[in-house]
Amino acid sequence: MKALILSGGTGSRLRPLTYTGAKQLIPVANKPILFYAIEAIREAGITEIGMIVGDTGAEIERVVGDGQAFGVKITYIPQEAPLGLAHAVKIAESFIGADDFLMFLGDNLVRDGVRAFSEQFQTSKPNGMILLSRVPNPQRFGVAEIQGGQVTRLIEKPKVPPSDLALVGVYLFDRSIFRAVNEIAPSARGELEITDAIQHLIDHGYRVEAHIIDGWWKDTGKPEDMLEANRMMVENIMPSCDGTVDQHSQVIGRACIASGAVIENSVIRGPVVIGANAVIRNSYIGPFTSISEGVRIEGSELENSIILQDTVIEHIPTRIDSSLIGKNVHISKVIERPKALTFVLGDNSRAEVQ
Ligand code: G1P
Repeated sequence: MKALILSGGTGSRLRPLTYTGAKQLIPVANKPILFYAIEAIREAGITEIGMIVGDTGAEIERVVGDGQAFGVKITYIPQEAPLGLAHAVKIAESFIGADDFLMFLGDNLVRDGVRAFSEQFQTSKPNGMILLSRVPNPQRFGVAEIQGGQVTRLIEKPKVPPSDLALVGVYLFDRSIFRAVNEIAPSARGELEITDAIQHLIDHGYRVEAHIIDGWWKDTGKPEDMLEANRMMVENIMPSCDGTVDQHSQVIGRACIASGAVIENSVIRGPVVIGANAVIRNSYIGPFTSISEGVRIEGSELENSIILQDTVIEHIPTRIDSSLIGKNVHISKVIERPKALTFVLGDNSRAEVQ
């Protein structure tokens, strides 16, 4: 069995962060989203991975490498344009060869992994297997209609959803899917949809099994999804402290503090992750916060946020909450009058002030 990770796409809903980097490399609990997918696949016993990449392929390859660090072998497969998930399957045909494969969308997080599903697939040997999760907003996803325990219909982002069962971004297929992806036509948004390819399997009498997952799952398309994913992942961290915490500081609850990090005269209330060489001084870091490498926080309070590499936040008088802040950002308070807010924000940035 092989695996295919889809790691292309533009990440438009995560701008401006995705102007300068791949959405799959945005970290939750200080680890790129994509790493969780690679680890879940490895944990399922699959070691040959095809990585479909688009415009951000070079960055992904630089960060992920050949897979050796994860105990897998990664082959990069460039997709010339984001022409759909079924198109990605189509261009991976020679990589997959005669094997069955597990397809994992690189921006999806499945807390309990995929091992049980891949075992189930190998035992019951259907032609396709999909995972479904009950969601409050099915319009945002592919949605399944089930009758008598069988999937009868799959619809991509329906305006009027037939159920609350969203398609999770993890699929298992045998070779029959290649016929399907070659026979379907592009959708109204001009993409070859994987939902249409699976519908094609169903319509042509192939066996497609569906499993409803009860564990936590997230498609990290939007900033609020990233924050929710971060909350879930920091909650499961192993507490550790390789940095320095001075005697005027307090670390309450679970915190993971990397080497070279310095905590001075501050309160850290976990679950919190603090990256290497970060400096936290005269500050409060509240629950569900991930602070990346090299960040400096002084005289400020923040919680439920993700702060990326080398950003500086100093002397902000109001608590920063539910924020996703990119690399190398500088947020500070000016002392001189006139009292005013000054912004230099990239396109599609969002700032909320009270
Ligand atoms: C894709 C699929 C959709 C699925 C979702 C899961 O949508 O087309 O069927 O429910 O992933 O993450 P996208 O997030 O690419 O819009």
